[in-house]
Amino acid sequence: MVSALPNNVLVMIPTYNERDNVEWIVGRVRRAQPDAHVLVVDDSSPDGTGELADALAAADERVHVLHRPGKQGLGRAYIEAMRWGIARGYGVLVELDADGSHQPEQLGRLLDVQGADLVLGSRWIPGGAVENWPWHRRAISRVGSAYARTVLGLGVRDVTGGYRAFQASALEKLDLDAVHSHGYAFQVDMLARAVRAGLRVVEVPITFVERERGASKMSIGIVAEAMLRVTWWAISRRRR
Ligand code: GDD
Ligand code: MN
Repeated sequence: MVSALPNNVLVMIPTYNERDNVEWIVGRVRRAQPDAHVLVVDDSSPDGTGELADALAAADERVHVLHRPGKQGLGRAYIEAMRWGIARGYGVLVELDADGSHQPEQLGRLLDVQGADLVLGSRWIPGGAVENWPWHRRAISRVGSAYARTVLGLGVRDVTGGYRAFQASALEKLDLDAVHSHGYAFQVDMLARAVRAGLRVVEVPITFVERERGASKMSIGIVAEAMLRVTWWAISRRRR
């Protein structure tokens, strides 16, 4: 990405009960991108993930931890992490899951793109893939993406993906205070705001690997939030 010195990259990793994954994923990011900094954003996980992250940060000056008072959803965690990164002058802010679904070894694909404001790791373009997902999860993701893309007029294939690199300068053009979505809807929300703001959005293929350890936080409520919000945004868009 333009003017992205490697040591200017902050990889934001939200965690909730990721005790078995946090050290492994932070280590992979540090090995794949040695100059990048890591920010673990933990919502007071009862399983002690936050304390494990503190130990990693104590041993490595490029690892940081943000503790939040309780589980408030992926969206809130990312917004606070983005503010943290912008305030400290990072040039590129990356979203990455703790469970290994987003391979740190593929981060170079996102960071190498020139001239984009937002780079999306995409499962649903040629070269992209999903490993270890049953057919029904593929179907939900593809249909959900197609629905949101169509009704919101977004010109990309993977609208809910959570492996993304934002230029900090681009994020500053979005009104982060106005973002209230929590789960998958957060990703659609941020993308729709970026597109409406005229930001340059580029997709690069990634292979999403379903988690092997720990439990997903996806729930029927999170899917429902995404569908309801997308439908509501589509109606509001028609009215404008
Ligand atoms: N701090 C914090 N607070 N972290 C959270 C919370 C929360 O309330 N909820 C989830 N996380 C963290 C998890 O610990 C994990 O690191 C990451 O967010 C993703 O959570 P998962 O539960 O593994 O989500 P997923 O695999 O269903 O969803 C992923 O794929 C979706 C698209 O298929 C995410 O990347 C989503 O953003 C994406 O929309
Ligand atoms: Mn996951």
